[in-house]
Amino acid sequence: MAQYQIAWLPGDGVVHDVMEVSRIVLDALKLDAQYIPGDIGWEFWRHEGDPLPQRTLDMMKNTDCALFGAITSKPKEEAANELDEHLRDKGLIYFSPIVRLRQEFNLHTNMRPCKAYPGNPLNYREGIDLVIFRENTEGMYGGVEFHPIPQAVFDVLSDNHSKMKKFAQYGLENLAMSTRIMSRQKCANIVTQGFEYAKKFGYKTVTVVDKPNVLRETGGLMIRTARQVAKKYPGIELWETNIDAQAMWLIKNPHDYGVMVAENMFGDILSDLAAQLVGGLGFACSGNIGDSYAVFEPTHGSAPKYAGQYKVNPMAMLLTSKMMLDWLNEEDKARRLETAISKVIKEGAVKTYDMGGTNTSLEVAEEVVRHL
Ligand code: IPM
Ligand code: MG
Repeated sequence: MAQYQIAWLPGDGVVHDVMEVSRIVLDALKLDAQYIPGDIGWEFWRHEGDPLPQRTLDMMKNTDCALFGAITSKPKEEAANELDEHLRDKGLIYFSPIVRLRQEFNLHTNMRPCKAYPGNPLNYREGIDLVIFRENTEGMYGGVEFHPIPQAVFDVLSDNHSKMKKFAQYGLENLAMSTRIMSRQKCANIVTQGFEYAKKFGYKTVTVVDKPNVLRETGGLMIRTARQVAKKYPGIELWETNIDAQAMWLIKNPHDYGVMVAENMFGDILSDLAAQLVGGLGFACSGNIGDSYAVFEPTHGSAPKYAGQYKVNPMAMLLTSKMMLDWLNEEDKARRLETAISKVIKEGAVKTYDMGGTNTSLEVAEEVVRHL
């Protein structure tokens, strides 16, 4: 039996191309792994009514970790309209499989490094090197939502909060509500992950981003908890910023930031912004990390229009694979892979269209392998 069992979950669209690249490179590194393909994606939604069938979850439970691509996702009504005839009118609701995976496996920490590799023509500025720690299981994406708001829910909220009553005038069927529920435990965890990382890699500050001046209770809980956690790390300064201002400062002074921590939705937004500073989604990698399981995925989507053309930049997927190697404690392989990636970027001889080149994803794979 191979040393590692890795669930192989490309999903939809273009990620099949880049996962093929990843496989070529992992094989060149001689990672002793067995890759077990799993059903996940839009086709399974259309034909089975579930984009993440139970058999896939069961398979994953017997693996060490998963490499995931991306999945086409659409708003509720559009998704329902694409179901096969026999699945219509059953009240099936589409949920993003990656959000579900994060919750099912309690992958509480979404780690998203954004590093400007020297010489990347797409760098906003050279020398940017930051990591976002995004809480991954609750907050605004926790999934507790209503439309319409049930009468009982409305009544309880009205009894407990004076601001709720004014919404009654619209009628419950005209009201939608998404909640932002946050726990002290998950706030403490994500901030701790940020501080531990800062300690390990010598960062002097950790920036916790929220909006406590308006979101007094949830944002307040995050900041108060962060202050508690920060006390345990005397050499590292806690910076507290608001999400709106932080978006501006990241553009203005990106070098000021190293480790950033945020709630689920704010972290989602912030990480796309940060990705653009270091070359865009073609360079954005991430790891959904729990206590004993992890799912690694590039931050980019499924880009269906490019599927099968081997056109898109495989760097995000390769950097994602590098994160997986780190998590498996294959530090030597991780380091070799990152060094090779970094050389290929710096030399600039082989590059995909987004970097101004004409090479295919597979040619980038070959070039990375040559530099291993
Ligand atoms: C991400 C993506 C996902 C998210 C989508 C596809 C559900 O934007 O991983 O950042 O919002 O978390
Ligand atoms: Mg996102």
